[in-house]
Amino acid sequence: MEKTPVLSQIFEPIRADLELVDREFVRQIESQVAIIPTMGRYIQQGGGKRVRPAVLLMSARLLGFTGERAILFAAAVEFIHSATLVHDDIIDESNLRRGRPAVHARWGNDVTVLLGDYLYIKSMSLALTHDTLDIVRVLCDATLKMIEGEIYQLTKNGDAAITEDEHFDIIRRKTAFLFGASSQIGGMLGGANKAQEEALQQYGFNLGIAFQVVDDLLDFTGDYEALGKPVAADLVEGKMTLPLIHLLQQPGHRGGEIVREIIEKRAATSEQWQEVLGLLREHRSIEYASRRAVEFAELAKKQLQLFPPSSEREALLALPDYVLSRDR
Ligand code: IPE
Ligand code: IPE
Ligand code: MG
Ligand code: MG
Repeated sequence: MEKTPVLSQIFEPIRADLELVDREFVRQIESQVAIIPTMGRYIQQGGGKRVRPAVLLMSARLLGFTGERAILFAAAVEFIHSATLVHDDIIDESNLRRGRPAVHARWGNDVTVLLGDYLYIKSMSLALTHDTLDIVRVLCDATLKMIEGEIYQLTKNGDAAITEDEHFDIIRRKTAFLFGASSQIGGMLGGANKAQEEALQQYGFNLGIAFQVVDDLLDFTGDYEALGKPVAADLVEGKMTLPLIHLLQQPGHRGGEIVREIIEKRAATSEQWQEVLGLLREHRSIEYASRRAVEFAELAKKQLQLFPPSSEREALLALPDYVLSRDR
């Protein structure tokens, strides 16, 4: 891999556009029901990375498209992502997001569920501003996949016997399809032909898988301060992720026993946690998951071979490397 990419550098060419996306986000969250813009601003000011809108904007630029409609759809994608996060934090009972109290920790579950609903529908109504039903369909499909992923994940919660295939099915749905939709929509705005549109969708899709594998890795290896959300939380929530699935496939250790105990109690002593971490290192399970993330990041980059060299393509090529090296 080349030198560690910095997100702000990759996003530099679209910095002004991302500011417009934020402005659009705030504008669209206006309501006479005052708590809606209050909560909406709280989300907007939280310091999210805006990776999905950036993927959309950069993909549109790859095909020479800039302009108002890209800003609007980028905001729609961020609305969907935001809705996901506020609901996800309720489901995961996770009280910290982006280094601050999660929305539900601040306003309670009732209004937060409804705000999430509001954001979902808002994204669709935003996308309907222009007569582009094909794009609305892409957004709907990705959102349905995402919710299916969250539901499927719940049905597998606490199941230490989950297979790698089942796990990847979850992360494709809950994360990768929205990334895929973002790059695909960028392509559609730019008038991509079928092959280009497909390549861009696959770019985002594979990037999204890598992104989630890394997110799951950071739960073991990451720093709470940098991430702005809890670490060592997935297993305690009953969520089996790739490193653990790999570990439990390896014979001759008592990792399975400890994992089942933690899942059952929904709590881990620091000794248990240290032992799990030790086993993950010993059996190269962290390394395995990292390698899988690299595979998907490479697959994402490969899709861009279809496009002639340009600074826009360079930026899209840098994003998978950022995802692999990210700490937040
Ligand atoms: C978090 O997404 C949810 C996952 C898919 C892992 P991000 O890491 O993109 O969240 P923000 O928007 O930057 O906070
Ligand atoms: C990501 O899952 C949420 C969705 C993509 C729906 P996680 O539960 O891993 O996300 P974080 O870790 O809370 O950000
Ligand atoms: Mg979560
Ligand atoms: Mg996570």
